[in-house]
Amino acid sequence: MTGARPVSLLERRGPGYVAVPMKAIREEAACTVVAGCQWGDEGKGKVVDVLAGGVDVVARYQGGANAGHTVHVGDRRIVLHQVPSGVLRPGKRCLLGNGVVLDVNRFFAEVDGLAERGLDPGGRIGVSDRAHVVFPYHKALDAAAEEAARRKIGTTGRGIGPAYESKAGRRGVRVADLLDRAHAAEGVGRGIAWARARLRELGADPGRAGTVAGALALARRLPSVATDVGDEIARALAAGRRVLLEGAQGTALDVDHGSYPYVTSSNTTAGAAAVGVGIGPTAIDSVIGVVKAYTTRVGNGPLPTAFGPAMDERIRELGAEFGATTGRPRRCGWFDAVLAAYSARVNGLTGIAVTKLDVLDTLAELKIATGYRTGGEARSLFPACVRDLERAEPVYETLPGWRTPTTGARSMNDLPANARAYLHRIEELVGAPIAMVSVGTRRSQVIRAR
Ligand code: IMP
Repeated sequence: MTGARPVSLLERRGPGYVAVPMKAIREEAACTVVAGCQWGDEGKGKVVDVLAGGVDVVARYQGGANAGHTVHVGDRRIVLHQVPSGVLRPGKRCLLGNGVVLDVNRFFAEVDGLAERGLDPGGRIGVSDRAHVVFPYHKALDAAAEEAARRKIGTTGRGIGPAYESKAGRRGVRVADLLDRAHAAEGVGRGIAWARARLRELGADPGRAGTVAGALALARRLPSVATDVGDEIARALAAGRRVLLEGAQGTALDVDHGSYPYVTSSNTTAGAAAVGVGIGPTAIDSVIGVVKAYTTRVGNGPLPTAFGPAMDERIRELGAEFGATTGRPRRCGWFDAVLAAYSARVNGLTGIAVTKLDVLDTLAELKIATGYRTGGEARSLFPACVRDLERAEPVYETLPGWRTPTTGARSMNDLPANARAYLHRIEELVGAPIAMVSVGTRRSQVIRAR
């Protein structure tokens, strides 16, 4: 609880901005949350991988196999869906909290895949015994609901919405339940009956709900990983170890605070981190919000700062903006400071990590949205109603580009002055200090306090 809050890496000197001397920056937080501040895909995987070098435990607090966290280690590109991004750091304990919905087969396939690539997570991985299980019937319902919907969400098809619906509807089956076969058979039977009725209503084949035997077979390898995550984290913190809580998706996809109904079905924001791993909010002393230097969105729903077609394609190619889970092309747009400032408030950010700055290296000028105009009136608040977000016309300010490669920068002073000015403007508009900047896919391509 004594952790120093991150301070900005930049300070004003004369007409420009220079790096703050590294000794002035300390990152001593005991328990840090890393949360996405846009529509997901902000680069949380890389940020967590970098920060995980300095912590002992990394735990995911929500979401499931819908997430796709990409990490580059050496020449290898590794996409993690459920296993926390800290797994690539040897010796770190990696946990999936109770707030996660667990796709058991995909999870073990991911663990086995890491082992085959020589990155054996072995006994380092634990799954909360309170986490809800995603069954085949949840995936069948996800697909059937999307097929039948007039207004499609564009989900990842991983059964996430129906699994959280089961949880809130008190008909879910948790890891601990699945470990008790007789108890589990009853719960799974009820779940399948519910799913069959719902599939019929949606005009889909109820046979897609699967069988009780098939669902129970998922329990086979769970005893090796099931644990009380809240207890583990509380003990780690009490012993002076450092913990990182890893979010998935982003603030604009949060079921309460995002562009509802075009959202995922969990709370992605930092407030959910304590609930999602089973500790109290007072244990958290630092929240790093991850923003891409521009904005992207995959799936349906409004994106107010969307580029026109030519820029969209250019940035998608430069930034390799294709969904890590579904391969779908991401829509791209200018940096949206309305959303980022809103995210700073909702998440209580103590610092920002800006990723993919290098993707903007060739642009002559850059725009930042500072407000939304809806029917004549410009506002700087992220609207609650999706219709207002759909109608929102961004108010932009324009900054000069730097037209210089930034991929080799390792300190703020290595960046071109215009890049520093762009970052500083983001910091001002968002209202939280920049604590890290990523300038490439590699672990080493980062500017941060050391
Ligand atoms: P679901 O989480 O599969 O139900 O999908 C709901 C919405 O969230 C869709 O727009 C998805 O594209 C989006 N989404 C879910 N997970 C991610 C993610 O990890 N990155 C980006 N978008 C996501």
